[in-house]
Amino acid sequence: MDKMVLLDSAPEDLLNAVIKKSLEEKGRRLSLHGIHRWWSRRFSALYRFILASFLNNDPDWILTCINQPWLMRERAKGKVFYEPFAGGGTGLIEAALAGWNVYGSEVNPVAADIVESGLQIVREGIPDRYFKDMIKVLELSLEALKELWYLNDGLISYTLVSRGRIPTWITTRRNNGREEKLLICPNCMNIFFYAQKGEKGFAKCPLCEEKFSITIKPAIDIPSNLPEVTRGWKAFIVELRIKEGSRWRKKWINLILNREISNHLKKVIDKALKYSKDSYEFLSTYTLNGIFEGRRLKREGGLNSLADFFTPRQLTSFELFTKTCTKIIDKKYWRLARLALSETAKSSSIAAKWYPPTGEPIPAAAIKTYWISAYAVETNPLAHIPGRLTPLARNSLASSIRAQKRAVEFVRSNGDYSKFKYKFLNVTAENFILPQTINLAVIDPPYLGRVKSYTSLSLVHYSAFILFNYVSKEKMLPKIHAIESLEVTISNKRYREVLNSVMTKVAYRLKDDGRVVLMYNRQSIDEWKIPLEASKMAKLYPIVAYWVLGETPGRLARSTLRGLFLVIFSRKPHRRMIIIFKNILENIEKYGIFLDMKREYEACMSLIKALSSVYHNITIVKR
Ligand SMILES: C[S@@+](CC[C@H](N)C(=O)[O-])C[C@H]1O[C@@H](n2cnc3c(N)ncnc32)[C@H](O)[C@@H]1O
Ligand SMILES: [Zn+2]
Repeated sequence: MDKMVLLDSAPEDLLNAVIKKSLEEKGRRLSLHGIHRWWSRRFSALYRFILASFLNNDPDWILTCINQPWLMRERAKGKVFYEPFAGGGTGLIEAALAGWNVYGSEVNPVAADIVESGLQIVREGIPDRYFKDMIKVLELSLEALKELWYLNDGLISYTLVSRGRIPTWITTRRNNGREEKLLICPNCMNIFFYAQKGEKGFAKCPLCEEKFSITIKPAIDIPSNLPEVTRGWKAFIVELRIKEGSRWRKKWINLILNREISNHLKKVIDKALKYSKDSYEFLSTYTLNGIFEGRRLKREGGLNSLADFFTPRQLTSFELFTKTCTKIIDKKYWRLARLALSETAKSSSIAAKWYPPTGEPIPAAAIKTYWISAYAVETNPLAHIPGRLTPLARNSLASSIRAQKRAVEFVRSNGDYSKFKYKFLNVTAENFILPQTINLAVIDPPYLGRVKSYTSLSLVHYSAFILFNYVSKEKMLPKIHAIESLEVTISNKRYREVLNSVMTKVAYRLKDDGRVVLMYNRQSIDEWKIPLEASKMAKLYPIVAYWVLGETPGRLARSTLRGLFLVIFSRKPHRRMIIIFKNILENIEKYGIFLDMKREYEACMSLIKALSSVYHNITIVKR
């Protein structure tokens, strides 16, 4: 029997509400998913919409569940949700929170740990003890590495580094509600704060009166005798945090003019080089040769192995953090500690860009490609307010651990822990043994563009991961090459095979009234055909496709298709299929989403063409 579910015919205002909800999530990810920002995470609102509209036909109830997903628990009891390409686990974790039994797989060990940790948080939380212990770990680590991270009375938050050229605009601060730029004069190298007056885009040095343009492009050459934080990268400015009463004031030191501190820093780095020798050697055995991004990282950034992502001070800090964890933290929670380290590594890495307009680093692969910048930043991963989980540098360890705490608090005060059965494995989708019956499956296959694999994208995370395992003497993980070769990508011949196999297995276990949801969007008809031919082969029939918002890219992102189609399939043949494609929201730009509706429309037309060529017996109606 094929019972109608609202998922087959969602009304426009419900879709509109889902898109609005997604926009609200944009930028400030729900705290439940903040423990690690794996790539291509879908909005929670999308999953909640899918899950709830499968369970009930009442749009009002569905809307309520999008805000309070735990209200689904009664109806979801015993129902099976399956997601073979789990990614950061947004879907599995949302389904678990909503009381479904969840099944899934993910090939990447870093992502797999995110999923496991998320499920643990939804199921039983993390005891307060862990957070208390973690505060101790951070304090002990920072205390032990005082000589590396303190300058006089200040704690180093960031050290700006460059391979030769630097911008004139260094950072930005707010002073009495007014924005001020910290600039460096290309003539005398003096640094000074500047609030825009006079000709826009230009400033005048108060010391030598040189007039110069304000730019974030690498424009000025730096002297060669500056301290080298790591191969080829010279430090030119240090940002310090200085305690004044209850506030932590920022202070900047210009290393180009301050020889004394510059020389001191050289000595500090020499020490760190010795401390980190072992970690460095270990990570050096993980070369980037043969990895998708390897050649570019080498060519443009001079990186040869995983060791080159971090500076000696960072490696020393990672190592000490790990050692201290193993002494203080209950072994049951090492996975969480390692996850925090991995999340932090992303911003700490030398492949993170320094962005003067915000005065913060932008994690490299955050935009699905690595920055190979002329100037970058060395983040102090240990920067935090002593005794608290308050970070003093973006994405430092305190912030990653605090994110875990917030996720737990979210669950506790929103429906509380959930009871569900689950089976999740760090294996390929092809190798996962499916549950006996499936009610609802989401297939969100990888289809990266510019960067060819998630493994390549997560090299930095992975480095921190294996370093943790090495220092704590935990089981070692497969090598990056092995992981990358198991991963399927759209340019890989196995892609079609894997989708065929996954769809066929899902269809076989799918209940008569079950549904499969494909999340996908491509510009080309041929690339649309790959999953559609797989679904056809699996004897799955498309009922409807909805255009919704996919990822969250803002202006910086490289991908141009920001929409996403949810294609709903069932096992019962249908004559007619509906495509709902509408830019429902006006002024979407004001949310910081930049949609190219022409391209989105082209992708929609490709979907329709691919559908009519694959499913030629189905009439397609576009709305
Ligand atoms: C588009 S992402 C999924 C994102 C997820 N829906 C979310 O919202 O968090 C695709 C994932 O598939 C994984 N993957 C690639 N090849 C795989 C394979 N053969 N088996 C299982 N997972 C694979 C990638 O590592 C990546 O994390
Ligand atoms: Zn000057």
